[in-house]
Amino acid sequence: MWLINSSIGRKVIMSVTGMALILFMTFHCCMNVAALFSGEAYNTICELLGANWYAVAATIALGALAVCHIVYAFILTAQNRRARGSERYAVTAKPEKVEWASQNMLVLGLIVVLGLGLHLFNFWYKMMFAELVGMETALPPTDGFGLMKETFSNPVYVVLYIVWLVALWFHLSHGFWSAMQTIGVNGKVWFNRWKIIGTVYVTLLILAFVVVVLAFFFGCAPSLCCAA
Ligand code: HEM
Repeated sequence: MWLINSSIGRKVIMSVTGMALILFMTFHCCMNVAALFSGEAYNTICELLGANWYAVAATIALGALAVCHIVYAFILTAQNRRARGSERYAVTAKPEKVEWASQNMLVLGLIVVLGLGLHLFNFWYKMMFAELVGMETALPPTDGFGLMKETFSNPVYVVLYIVWLVALWFHLSHGFWSAMQTIGVNGKVWFNRWKIIGTVYVTLLILAFVVVVLAFFFGCAPSLCCAA
């Protein structure tokens, strides 16, 4: 099948799954920002998303998207290396105008995956998973707000999350631009416009995640100053 066997087909799969993951992050980010204003509202969303069948189905779909994106990243990288053959080792000077993020997408992707593993352990494992298997937890599994307060009161987690989010920024800003190329945005003018739109969008998205982490660390958000 063209989508699986051809190089361009594989790139299309990477682009579409990547865009879907950015959409998920946008939803997730809006939810986190809500926690800055009301812990109660945030926990109501957490309860709604808890271990209900539709939330579990969405998590499985999300996991499938992420696995597909990661597996194809390895396939494409191996394919590119094979195509370049021994030349890869003969090159000493880095080509000009090739972005740093472009050359390091796989390494950045690995930092992103490791950070995601830590993040899922910190939250998903203690919330959805705990509720599904009836595991004992220090905080109720629907108290996402309490868990955020606890996690981001630890400066080690704050630093690790910021490193993860910076790697995500590089990965996503290059990924957005690359997806536009694959999907076939034509013309220099529109291509440059989409590049700017993508960079601004991804920057705002990551900044919002960073603001949430820092607001919880410093305790400076309406939901944190006014809550008991
Ligand atoms: C930095 C601030 C972040 C905070 C405070 C945060 C918080 C949370 C919380 C509370 C949950 C559990 C929700 C539940 O099970 O009801 C969760 C799940 C999750 N988060 Fe985050 N998150 C952050 C950043 C991110 C980022 C940047 C990504 C993506 C790269 C991400 C990906 C996920 C995924 C995949 C899940 C599991 C979703 C599911 O169960 O369907 N999170 N996060």
